[in-house]
Amino acid sequence: MCYKKAMKKIVVLTSGGDSPGMNAALRAVVRTGSYYGIEVWAANEGYLGLVREELHLLGPRDVSGLTGKGGTILRSSRCQEFFDPQVRAKVIKFLYEQNVDGLVVIGGDGSFRGAKLLFEEGGPKCIGIPGTIDNDIVGTEYTIGFDTACNNAIAAVDKLRDTAYSNSKYFVIEVMGQRAGFIALSVGIATGAEFIIVPEFPMTTPEIAQKINNFHQKKQSLIMIVAEAGNPGRSVEMVKQLSTLTPFEYRNCILGHIQRGGNPTMIDRDIASKMGFDAVKALLDGQTNKMVAQEKGRLVLVDFPKIEQGYRKIENQDLIGFTNILSDMSRI
Ligand code: F6P
Repeated sequence: MCYKKAMKKIVVLTSGGDSPGMNAALRAVVRTGSYYGIEVWAANEGYLGLVREELHLLGPRDVSGLTGKGGTILRSSRCQEFFDPQVRAKVIKFLYEQNVDGLVVIGGDGSFRGAKLLFEEGGPKCIGIPGTIDNDIVGTEYTIGFDTACNNAIAAVDKLRDTAYSNSKYFVIEVMGQRAGFIALSVGIATGAEFIIVPEFPMTTPEIAQKINNFHQKKQSLIMIVAEAGNPGRSVEMVKQLSTLTPFEYRNCILGHIQRGGNPTMIDRDIASKMGFDAVKALLDGQTNKMVAQEKGRLVLVDFPKIEQGYRKIENQDLIGFTNILSDMSRI
């Protein structure tokens, strides 16, 4: 099989955990494609749509009003089947027969690995757009959905602060972030949390309890933001332990998937639109195995992250250290 040089027909899909802004990226891909005379087809439910050999054509009007819509209208999935080489061989044959020249994958690093394999095994050129609320993809400072997820969480924490203060409670609030603590950090800073617990700088519950007990004065209320860190529901056990190790009354609240839904913020609409545009331009320029990334505030093309690079982490502990000064209970 040998792919034509010209970019005449591309496929777009959203894969992995959905994130707010994916629809804005999709709209940008479809409209940029249309502007440059490229047919844009979509696969539903991520790679599953390719495995099922189902594509549908999208025109500029089909993506009207999408900048502000949460989730992904294409739906998404974490398609394990796609990691089977035989399944991919079938998909490559299908894409070849359909004259598909390029693929735009909106998703996370696992989804990009799938796209890279597809290309290396004879499939079309592929460009990735990073979309995950966790903001933990190596090679980019920003992934679509992060800002919206943080704002969703902030709105919830502000409400919890009201009741925490009024009823003298200590709250352990669990936010998403499977491998990294970016959501916890930003939400913690933005809500003035007294504690921010992230996987990059772990603390045991007895260590946290000791810190609480060391404070000279009891605070009326307290907000602790905890990243789920691959252990969703961990705040339940933490609250049980803290209740026995300190003299205060605790409640826990798991924000869960509510963080992932809702209308994307201006930042997510803006970046997603620009990334969608750049992804199609990259395919037109003959690029492949690249992701549109944010680097020092600018959008650039970088290689797909390699598996050995792992995931992006908070590297600077001072980012958490300074919040201890802002919420130092011994002075409040
Ligand atoms: O998309 C990232 C993420 O939201 C993580 O923060 C979370 O751990 C995971 O996805 C949840 O995945 P699922 O929706 O499959 O439960």
